[in-house]
Amino acid sequence: MTRITKPTGFATIALALLAVLVATGARGADAQRGKALYQECKRCHQAGRGAKHRIGPHLNDVFGRRAGSLANFRYSPAMKKAGAGGLVWTEKTLDAFAANPRKVVPRSRMSYAGMTAAGDRTDLLAWLRTLSASRSGLPAAEPTMTVEEFGLDPRLLAVAGDPEYGAYLASECTTCHRPDGADEGIPSIVGWPVEDFVITLQAYKRGKRRHQAMQTIAKRLSDEEIASLAVYFGRPLAGR
Ligand code: HEC
Ligand code: HEC
Repeated sequence: MTRITKPTGFATIALALLAVLVATGARGADAQRGKALYQECKRCHQAGRGAKHRIGPHLNDVFGRRAGSLANFRYSPAMKKAGAGGLVWTEKTLDAFAANPRKVVPRSRMSYAGMTAAGDRTDLLAWLRTLSASRSGLPAAEPTMTVEEFGLDPRLLAVAGDPEYGAYLASECTTCHRPDGADEGIPSIVGWPVEDFVITLQAYKRGKRRHQAMQTIAKRLSDEEIASLAVYFGRPLAGR
């Protein structure tokens, strides 16, 4: 009787495993790679210890969360309706949403075109998983947008805005951006924290973020006008 020695047994198993992997094209999810991919979401979402709502809600414990259900975040009617209709964030629904947000929740306020590569989404979700399980081991949340990132003067954030003046100026913006915030090609700009709004418009104004139409528009606005628009668009729709 031939006796399978340990190394041979191991090699057999390894080869069998390799064959399965090759056959299915499967690979392990890479949470660290997912963390790098999360940069695309980080502009709007904080996650980790101490995470706060910013342009989007925080993404701790998103697995098992009913869509549009966190207190203190102003979701769009579309997101709330999706949650009331039974949408719960799972591996499957998050994957579909990350791939094409507008297909899963039409008229949502989330302005993101989608992460097309399935392997990227697998890794991204593996990273989000690590922010759902253990409370104690969570890494500290990183800020969404900083003036430093764009090389802007921090004093721009201290400029006071007048919401009435913002309302007056806003009519130019709503020829393109929808006042109710639905993202239908032109991104949503409502309900943002004032700081993120100011940083974004100042970045256009000073050529640190490129987009021809928005750069032209922002260049014409004074710092006070930008601050006023930020306060105005940051308010709930009913309060405007
Ligand atoms: C431009 C800003 C922006 C980007 C970029 C962005 N999001 Fe969002 N996200 C939002 C906003 C705003 C909402 C709330 C949408 C609503 O109420 O319609 C949201 C909602 C969500 C929700 C629903 C949460 C809940 O409580 O129901 C999930 C999940 C989500 N985003 C995941 C992601 C992921 C993953 C990425 C990156 C692949 C991403 N988002 C990129 C702004 C953004
Ligand atoms: C001609 C149409 C048009 C007008 C008018 C317009 N915008 Fe925009 N805006 C856009 C487009 C298109 C984008 C996306 C640009 C990009 O990809 O960087 C954008 C982007 C933005 C963003 C960044 C959105 C994001 O998700 O990062 C903000 C903030 C913004 N606009 C504010 C304003 C304000 C405030 C006004 C009025 C003073 C205004 N816009 C007027 C078309 C317009």
